[in-house]
Amino acid sequence: MRPRRSLFATDYIGQTISAYLVVVGEDGKDPERADELKWCTSVLALYFQTIEGNDKTNALKKQFEEAGSSRFINLEGSVPYLRSSIQRSEVSYDQLLGLFRQRRSTRWFLDEPVPRDVLDKAVLAALQSPSACNRQPFQFRIIDGPEVKQIASIPMGTSGYSGNIPVIVAVVGSLDAYFDERDRHVIYVDGALASMSFMLALETLGLASCPINWPDIEERERAMDKALDLKPWERPIMLMAVGKPDPTGGIPYSEKAPLSCMRRYQ
Ligand SMILES: Cc1cc2nc3c(=O)[nH]c(=O)nc-3n(C[C@H](O)[C@H](O)[C@H](O)COP(=O)(O)O)c2cc1C
Repeated sequence: MRPRRSLFATDYIGQTISAYLVVVGEDGKDPERADELKWCTSVLALYFQTIEGNDKTNALKKQFEEAGSSRFINLEGSVPYLRSSIQRSEVSYDQLLGLFRQRRSTRWFLDEPVPRDVLDKAVLAALQSPSACNRQPFQFRIIDGPEVKQIASIPMGTSGYSGNIPVIVAVVGSLDAYFDERDRHVIYVDGALASMSFMLALETLGLASCPINWPDIEERERAMDKALDLKPWERPIMLMAVGKPDPTGGIPYSEKAPLSCMRRYQ
């Protein structure tokens, strides 16, 4: 908000600090999550520096400081910054449109392994996608072993090519990221946004993909729970077939609807 109010976030700062105290205890020992800890600590430190405190926020600030948070603060790199400081990408609209047109659902792949470091690069790119409250309530489960065909056959929609898929990626949503039922659809929005980024990143890395629908059928849900060892709060969002595209494989031509039908200024 501009100008910033002198005191804000009072509805949820108590809950945030309670969660932070748990995180600083657990994740403070996890080197893999050090950057996230630095981020949330720095944002909270800046919050307490900025607001005009009252009794409630002063008590919370004390708890925050007593948790030994100061060692995780980095006010240079982990707090809000100006839009003008962002380094602009060199990618033009035409280049981006070209990439979007290059990506077409591909179902025929070369019988070659897909290097994991390349898949990881695509996942890293996908993790830049937006998600509600930056909760990133999903995981990319990558299957590149002998069980690919069996897992690729659990959803419908792969008949005829499930035996030709080198890698299956299952995007699994985690409903434990939310407090309220009203947010149960968010895993699908966030998971889909990240999946799109993933598929586009694959194209830049010489790989291709086909999204695979996840049907809401109880027996298939149970089969996937077992195959991926899912927790009760984890749900499949969608799957993707991934591999090096077979240049001799056909791609169904998919005409896209015209702008005039798809866009309406209200
Ligand atoms: C959510 C979703 C589910 C899909 N499910 C399947 C599927 O089960 N099997 C399949 O072969 N293709 C599937 N597709 C691919 C679509 O058929 C394809 O995206 C569409 O025909 C447009 O073609 P394009 O991706 O080449 O632009 C799916 C696509 C999406 C986005």
